[in-house]
Order: sequence, then structure tokens, then C-alpha cells
Amino acid sequence: MNSDYTHIPVLADETVSLLTGDRCSGAFRMIDCTLGCGGHSSMVLRQNPDAELLGIDRDPQAIARAAAKLDFAADRIVLVRGDFASMMRNAVSRIGWVDGVDAVLMDLGVSSPQIDDPARGFSFRFNGPLDMRMDTTSPLTAARVLNHYDEKDLVRIFREYGELKEAVPLARAVVEIREEKPFETTTQFAEVCDKVLRRNVRRGAPPTPTLCFQALRIEVNDELGQLRRALEEAVSLLKPNGILAVISFHSLEDRIVKHFMNDMAEKCKCPPGLPVCICNWKPKLSILTKKPVTASAEELERNSRAACAKLRGAKKLTD
Ligand SMILES: C[S@@+](CC[C@H](N)C(=O)[O-])C[C@H]1O[C@@H](n2cnc3c(N)ncnc32)[C@H](O)[C@@H]1O
Repeated sequence: MNSDYTHIPVLADETVSLLTGDRCSGAFRMIDCTLGCGGHSSMVLRQNPDAELLGIDRDPQAIARAAAKLDFAADRIVLVRGDFASMMRNAVSRIGWVDGVDAVLMDLGVSSPQIDDPARGFSFRFNGPLDMRMDTTSPLTAARVLNHYDEKDLVRIFREYGELKEAVPLARAVVEIREEKPFETTTQFAEVCDKVLRRNVRRGAPPTPTLCFQALRIEVNDELGQLRRALEEAVSLLKPNGILAVISFHSLEDRIVKHFMNDMAEKCKCPPGLPVCICNWKPKLSILTKKPVTASAEELERNSRAACAKLRGAKKLTD
């Protein structure tokens, strides 16, 4: 593990303030579903010496990095390796937090140590193996997707997860090229993306391989499925008045979070036009961020990776 890679937590003050209400003491139990380097969590644990943390990450290197960073609070933390959708409830019950938790944080996507390490294969900026797994023990790599998926599945991935108009020609090019030589490296795939997409590049648009790499990464890590499952789980684990905060980095994630929070905050689910409410639905959340919180100019100067970050928060209502 290279310890030179660092991660600057995005929207750090805004997130911690939303999660904790700036409380500096008193019992406070939080799940950080995406521990990463422990940036947000360390702020919470330093701010409140009574705070306790359950930190989850599917990346073994992230757990090791965060354990070192959070060592100052070793007796107040439990760190678990695994994916948040399936680990959250299990871990909460294993550590005996029977009354639930005060806050849940999801800071989605990849961390700087993951994206900046060529060996992890997340970025087209470096040549490396086409890996892209957050969980390095999982069998599905990006190379496996490109070399073994049917053309129609590749089209679906590029269209749904990359929102690429050129999904069909890109998938066709992948299938043709892999017959000659299987995909092994990020550069190999980036060159194909460049060739297929170059004609349609708009001014100011991200470099062409960005969305193709995003699409593959989402598939390899089942990012949207994980998010959908975990949002439900998080709300059910929150105590009344507990806070859910989610930071997303692309529109597909943000759309899921926004719809989920709006749906849970709805006052009534009857079809429109009924004279009286018959649904008995009780809203489960109240939304704390009418519009998503985004990075200030000052933060963007320090950390360009905050550019796409959107923070949404909601409070669990009493039953
Ligand atoms: C953006 S980083 C979090 C950075 C962290 N907030 C900090 O300040 O250091 C996202 C982390 O979440 C992890 N992750 C993403 N999706 C996950 C999932 N479904 N289950 C568990 N961990 C996940 C990644 O491995 C990565 O380490």
C-alpha cells in the first residue's frame, strides 16, 4: 500500500455540521458507510469525544489507512470490510447498537488513493491493468466485463451508466477488437473510446473516456444497486431525528438519492384527485437540503475533485 496517496474530504464542514448539528459532546453513534481514508469520520470523532463510529469500506487498503488515521479514537471505533448494502445491519447488530444510530454518511464513489494508483485501473490518465474493483477480492474486473460480456450488455452499460449516445458503436468496437486481442490495460480501452467518440466531442465536455470509464466502474462495483439497497437500510437503522447525509458525484447517483429522499418525505401517496386521504402513509424523512449543497469557490481552488460533489441530507421523523 502506497501511503503517499491522500484524500481530501469533500464538503467536509458542511457534511459534519449536517450530521452532528455541531454538537461537541454527548452520546452519538454514526455509521460511515464509505470510510475511505477516514477524513469525515475523523472530524466527527475529534469534534465530539463521546462519538462512536462504525466504519465500513469494501476496500481492504481503505480500512488499513483509516485505522491508522483514526487510531486516536481506537476505543470508539469498529471498522468492517465489506459492501455497505449487506454489511450495515449485520454490523450494527453485532456491535449491539440495538437502539439504532444517530447518523449515517455515504460519500459515494472512489477515493483519491484508489483513482491515483495506476495499479487499481480506475483512471485513463495512467496506464494500468483494467481492474476498477473497489473490493480487490471480488472476481469481476473491468477487463472481464469488456472481454466477456455480450454486445447487448455492453450497450446497456455504456448507455445507462455512461449516458453515452455512442453506446452501440462503442460496444461494437469493443467486441471487434477483443477478437484480435483481449483488453488488458486502461490505455488500450481509452484509445478505443477516443476513436469512437472523438467525432462528437462538444466544447467544454469532459475528456471522451471519462464517461466510458465511469460506466465500467459502476458495473464492476454495482454502485447503483448498492446505493438503492443501502438507502432503505440506512433509514431503517436511524433513530428518530437521526440524520442521513449522502454525497454523490454524478447525476445517476444524485437522481437516486433525490428521488429516494423525496419519496420518503412525501406526505401522502394517494392518487391525485381523491377527496380524502386513504393511504395511511406516514412520511419517514424530512428533507434538510432543499437544494443539494455544492462546493464553494474556495474549496474548489483547494480540491478540484469537489467540483461534481452534491450533498443531500434528511432527518428521520418519529413514527
Ligand atoms: C469518496 S471515498 C470516501 C472518502 C471518505 N469520506 C474520507 O473522507 O476519507 C469512497 C469510499 O467508499 C468506498 N465504497 C464505495 N462504495 C462502497 C460500497 N458499496 N460498500 C463499501 N464501501 C464502498 C470506496 O472503496 C472508497 O474507499
